[in-house]
Formats: sequence, C-alpha cells, structure tokens
Amino acid sequence: MNVVILAAGMGKRMQSALPKVLHPLAGKPLLLHVIDTARTLAPSKLCVIYGHGGAAVPEAVERQNTGAHAKIDTALQEPQLGTGHAVMQAVPQLDENAPTLILYGDVPLTTADSLKRLAEAAGSDKLGILTVEQANPFGLGRIVREGGDIRRIVEEKDATPDERAIREINSGIMVVPTRHLKKWLAALSNNNAQGEYYLTDIVAQAVADGVKVVSSQPSGEWEVAGVNSKVQLAELERRHQLNIAQALLEKGVHLLDPARIDVRGELICGRDVTIDVGCVFEGKVELADGVSVGAHSVLVNARVAAGASIKPFCHIEEAVVGPKSVIGPYARLRPGTELAEDVHIGNFVEIKNSQIAAHSKANHLAYVGDATVGSRVNIGAGTITCNYDGANKFRTVIEDDAFIGSDSQLVAPVTVGKGATLGAGTTLTKDAPAGQLTISRSKQMTIENWKRPVKVKKA
Ligand code: UD1
Ligand code: CA
Repeated sequence: MNVVILAAGMGKRMQSALPKVLHPLAGKPLLLHVIDTARTLAPSKLCVIYGHGGAAVPEAVERQNTGAHAKIDTALQEPQLGTGHAVMQAVPQLDENAPTLILYGDVPLTTADSLKRLAEAAGSDKLGILTVEQANPFGLGRIVREGGDIRRIVEEKDATPDERAIREINSGIMVVPTRHLKKWLAALSNNNAQGEYYLTDIVAQAVADGVKVVSSQPSGEWEVAGVNSKVQLAELERRHQLNIAQALLEKGVHLLDPARIDVRGELICGRDVTIDVGCVFEGKVELADGVSVGAHSVLVNARVAAGASIKPFCHIEEAVVGPKSVIGPYARLRPGTELAEDVHIGNFVEIKNSQIAAHSKANHLAYVGDATVGSRVNIGAGTITCNYDGANKFRTVIEDDAFIGSDSQLVAPVTVGKGATLGAGTTLTKDAPAGQLTISRSKQMTIENWKRPVKVKKA
C-alpha cells in the first residue's frame, strides 16, 4: 500500500508559530501519531505533503527515518490549491500496483484497526471512504448516496440545503486504486465555491468510470476528528488520555480517577499497580507488580521494581527504583539514580547519578550526587555531597553500614569507610576511616557569668 499524509495546511487558528501538525498530543507531534499509525500498516511507500512552516515539517519527518522502517518521503506543495492538488504532489512517488491510502496530518487518533477495515473494504479495485454520521456536520463534505450507493461528495460551501441536511460526512480518509487516482487527479478542476482542486471530486469520477465506491466507519467520531485550534487539540488530548486510562483499567491497573492521568509515552504496568490522581508519565515508564504511585507524581523514563511505593509529589527521571523501596513524599530522583531493594528516600531529598545499595536511607532534606552508597547506610537530615568545585565533578563513596550525622558536608572526592560514623555537622574533606567516629566541629564552650546586653535608656 502507498500512504500519503496531507500536512501542508497552515493552521492559522492554532495562533502559533509552530506548524499545526507539529503541535504535541500526549507529548508527540500530531504528524508523528499519523506516521506511527501508518507504519503499522507496513506501507511500501509513505509520503508526507508539506507546505507551511518552512523546513520544520520535513525536518521532523527526516528524524523518523531511522531504524528498520521504510523511508518516508516528503513533497512540497506550494502554493496550496486544495486537497486534490496536495495529493498530486505525491503522484510521481506512488507505486501503481498498490492502492493509495490518504491520511491527514492533523487527524491524530485514527486507529490502525479502522484503517485496516477500510483497506479491506476497498481491496485493490474499489474506492473506499471512511465516513461517519455526525450530529453536527457543519463545514464538512457530505456523502451523497442514491439508492444506498455513494454517488459523490459535496463540500459544505457547494451544497444545496437538501445536501446540507445529510449527516454522513467525509472524514477525508480514503483508499484509492492508484492507477485510477492518477488519472482522476489529472482531470480535476477548481471550478467550485472555493476555487480549489477538491480531492473529493474523484468520487464522482469513480462512479462515472464504473469503479465501485464503498465506505466503512470508525469506532467513534474522535477517530476522524481533526485539530484546527487549541480547543480541539485539548479535546483530543483528553479523549486520547481517556482511551489510555481505559486500556490500563482493563489490564487491571487501579486508577483512582481515569480522568486524571496523563501518559505521554509508554506506561507498562504489572499486576496490582495503583496510580493516584494527577500523575504524569513520560517516555517509557515501567511499574512492576504491586507498585503504588502517589498523587501528583511525575515519572520520566523510569523503572520502578515490585512492591515499591512512590508517595505523593515525587519527580523521578531516568532513574531505577528498587523493589520495596519507599520514595517521597516530595522526593526528586534525577538521571542516573539507581536504588536497590528497600531503599528509603524521604521528603526534600535529591539524588543524582548515584547508586544506593539495599536498605539504605536518606529520609530528610539531603543532596546525594555522584555518589556510590553501600548497604544499610543512614544519611542524616541536611547531608550534602559537595560534588562540584565549580569546574569539575567528583565522586563520593559511602561504604556499607556507615552513619552520616545530620548536616554533614562530604567534599568530594572523599570516601567514608565501612561502618564509619560521621558526627553531626561534619565537613568531611579527607577520607573517614572504617569503623570509627570522625567529626569536624569547633569545640562547644559556655561563657560563665555572661549577661545579655540591656537597652540603654535615652535621657
Ligand atoms: C476536507 C474535505 C471534506 C472533509 C474534510 C474533513 C476536500 C475538498 N474536502 O475539507 O470533504 O469533510 O476535509 O476534515 O477534500 N491540505 C493540504 N493542502 C491543501 C489543502 C489541505 O495539505 O492545499 C491538508 C490540510 O493540511 C489538512 C487536510 O488537507 O490536513 C484537510 O484540509 P482542510 O482544509 O482542513 O479540509 P477541507 O478542504 O476543509
Ligand atoms: Ca478541516
């Protein structure tokens, strides 16, 4: 199959410098949703028609030309003289021996399933149109039938009052036998209300040529809904998120509210996972069996092992949380964090590029960066690894069973030996030997008979 994606329109109503098809839905440009769906059909040719937005659209397409997928081609449509004119730009690239599927770059949520059914209905010699009955068909092309058979499509602006009363609309998505498509496009005229070359006019030509025209319907209106404004973008975002939430629920994930979750990527859940409201998942996130994620947490490219508990308001990015660990509330795990089993990271603790072994704890107000921390280590409140001298970064090593007293600064590079104890308030600039107490603290003293000053009375 050939696939042509129309993406030359400007999208004025988006009120944005960004070309419409590059606006993100679930964190991914609209056009990439369409490309990804098209690719599931394994097309032999895939061509994106671009126009408005300069090089941004072809550049975004080019970035998809990696891996095992067939290459995506682009064709410039300049000026934009209508949907038929847009498809004409792809004609030289189309394989005549396979049908051509036409998609829109601003219609992101069509399912592969619906497209497969349309392609099956069309086969290799029929024209297939994805149509839908709409309560409010205003502005859209209407499907004109006679005796049940599709005869033509009429655009809103060219329609008679009777035709405007038709509620079956053209989604714009079609499968067309390519040999015929080339001929029909060449015969289009722009003699209509908008002075455009309408792709939809090929339908009447098919009927005239005795080519059968069939239709199929998607599971819902949202599958063919386009984005022309931020309002429509927001509506489709919610619909898409609801679809994802529904799928998670069906797999047994406990969502406290399916209307309050945002998945912008891939969320893989084991059994008995619970996700409270307001969480955002970006990139690839894996939650193993029995994981719970508290309200308003953000997880980005993260892996959380079985039985771990993420309390509310955590930010976890490019990090691994070990089994049965407890994180937060209000914890931040930055890239390169790897926590082993039963690690406790409490409120206002930030961990970056560090490995923390089993049963260690940093429960309050700490910064652990570029550190290797052993097992059963206790990191007291207010502890900071001073990993950066303004120019270079250095590592801190804390060996098993060490106890770091509160409000300590570990000036890297530095090592705290196995079982060592640091007294509270220590500024560690040299290694702390294993098994001993190390403390750096000015001696405490008490001034005998000292009196507070008293305010001198003005005369
Ligand atoms: C078109 C259909 C209409 C259908 C509607 C569904 C035609 C003549 N009409 O309406 O029957 O109900 O879609 O939304 O086909 N585009 C280009 N180049 C152009 C013009 C459009 O690439 O010169 C792209 C747009 O970027 C968009 C898509 O084609 O992705 C549809 O264009 P739009 O102007 O929104 O659709 P209409 O022509 O109004
Ligand atoms: Ca439109």
